[in-house]
Amino acid sequence: MDSHQLVAALPLDRSASAPLFRQLYAAIKSAILRGAISPGMALPPTRQFCQLLSVSRQTVLNAYALLSAEGYLDGAVGRGTYVSLAVPAPAAATAKTPAKAATLLRPLPARGQAMVAAMQQVAFHASALRAFRVGMPRIDHFPFHVWARLEGRRRRRPDHYFGYGDPAGFLPLRELLCVYLKASRGVQCTPQQIIITSGSQQALYLLSQLLLAPGDAAWMESPGYRGASGPLRAAGATVFPVPVDADGMDVAYGEMHCPHARLAYVTPSHQLPLGMAMSLPRRLALLAWAAREQAWLVEDDYDSEYRYAGAPLASLQGLDTAGCVIYVGTLSKVLFPGLRLGYMVAPPALAEPLVQAKALLDRHTAIVPQMALADFIADGHFGRHIRRTRTSNAERRDVLLGAIGRELDDQLVCGPADSGLELCAYFRGRRQEADVARAGLERGIELRPLGHYAQPEADGRCATPAGLLLGFAAIAPPEIEQGVQTLAAILRGRPLY
Ligand SMILES: Cc1ncc(COP(=O)(O)O)c(C=O)c1O
Repeated sequence: MDSHQLVAALPLDRSASAPLFRQLYAAIKSAILRGAISPGMALPPTRQFCQLLSVSRQTVLNAYALLSAEGYLDGAVGRGTYVSLAVPAPAAATAKTPAKAATLLRPLPARGQAMVAAMQQVAFHASALRAFRVGMPRIDHFPFHVWARLEGRRRRRPDHYFGYGDPAGFLPLRELLCVYLKASRGVQCTPQQIIITSGSQQALYLLSQLLLAPGDAAWMESPGYRGASGPLRAAGATVFPVPVDADGMDVAYGEMHCPHARLAYVTPSHQLPLGMAMSLPRRLALLAWAAREQAWLVEDDYDSEYRYAGAPLASLQGLDTAGCVIYVGTLSKVLFPGLRLGYMVAPPALAEPLVQAKALLDRHTAIVPQMALADFIADGHFGRHIRRTRTSNAERRDVLLGAIGRELDDQLVCGPADSGLELCAYFRGRRQEADVARAGLERGIELRPLGHYAQPEADGRCATPAGLLLGFAAIAPPEIEQGVQTLAAILRGRPLY
């Protein structure tokens, strides 16, 4: 290739915003990788090249300097500049056929495929909040100005905590959480047993990876939370669906049909999605089974701060004498989900392995939100916020129950509604949940079918009843009323005006 051909192969766009030396650098690099300029070929001297290209000599010098630093060019003063012989030919060959972004370079291995398929389909909301979104707390109540002040204060005074920190999390936060969990949830723990995670999702993932071998059986509430069954499947576990009834997980069923499971996942304070609490006899039966089988129990206590009637329920962890319960908590419901803060309380001997696994995953959770949360708790904002939102949630729950009672009593029957951010409503007659949900979306409301929580492995013995999960905590009362009107119109087949 002579100099003129070379110049033709290096298009420069003088109207582009990228500096010319960057364009020249990119064009030469691409020509080398395409094989248009071969290893060993001499590039024109800078004085001549700048004239050929009609650019300044400095432009060429800068481009050569970058390419030399990256190993594409070799050369010395007086000996000219050459394309490096070290540029491997295969790199040039593969670069000739750039991979199409739409197709995977090669199929995913089995583990990768299991990860992709594990959650069935990730549910997230790209649209604005509307009735009856599930899993969402009331965020317009959250004192963001206080939070911003607390984060700002920490950011203005960076200290050694801003370096790589303890994978278990910010110690002052773990100390505060320890006091809170003991007092409000009856959790028995020390700060050393608490590990801060990026939401409870990360805790569920870590636990599944650390505690299960491929093929191990794990009990899963049926219907139950995909965020828990997904990590179990991704770890290669065999998910064994265990039915739930008015007392929570049917432990006897699990013992009869899958006695040697290695782990059971439960939401004993507030079953997701059906809303009941696990009775004391069931809790004791579950703990006895786990102790006998040396099985782990993962207690997901995701929204128990919000209990509207009766005394707060103590945790399952507080009854554990065998060291089998791992308590998982989240700030997603009491603060807001986008914060991505959660924690787990491990039996003492499991804490260190979990800390190591957490370090492997992401070293530790971002420090500033942990610090802000510690200050938020220590300054009393946390308790105040929970009290305020509990009152608001209870009011909104009453509005929803009242509206369903008035408008839809012949169509729906509500499940337990004494805690949490949502309630389930069963169809009285035969209904296709999916059709109702689709009609809801067309009319601007979200109706989560209970079938969303069915385990694919479940057979008729743990069939999910037909109905809807309706979130109320984040929805203003007029919208709740309006949403119920819309739902009534859908269920009665009436047009909407
Ligand atoms: C049963 C259950 N556990 C945990 C969570 C919270 O998950 P995260 O802490 O990852 O936001 C939710 C949220 O909807 C949930 O329904």
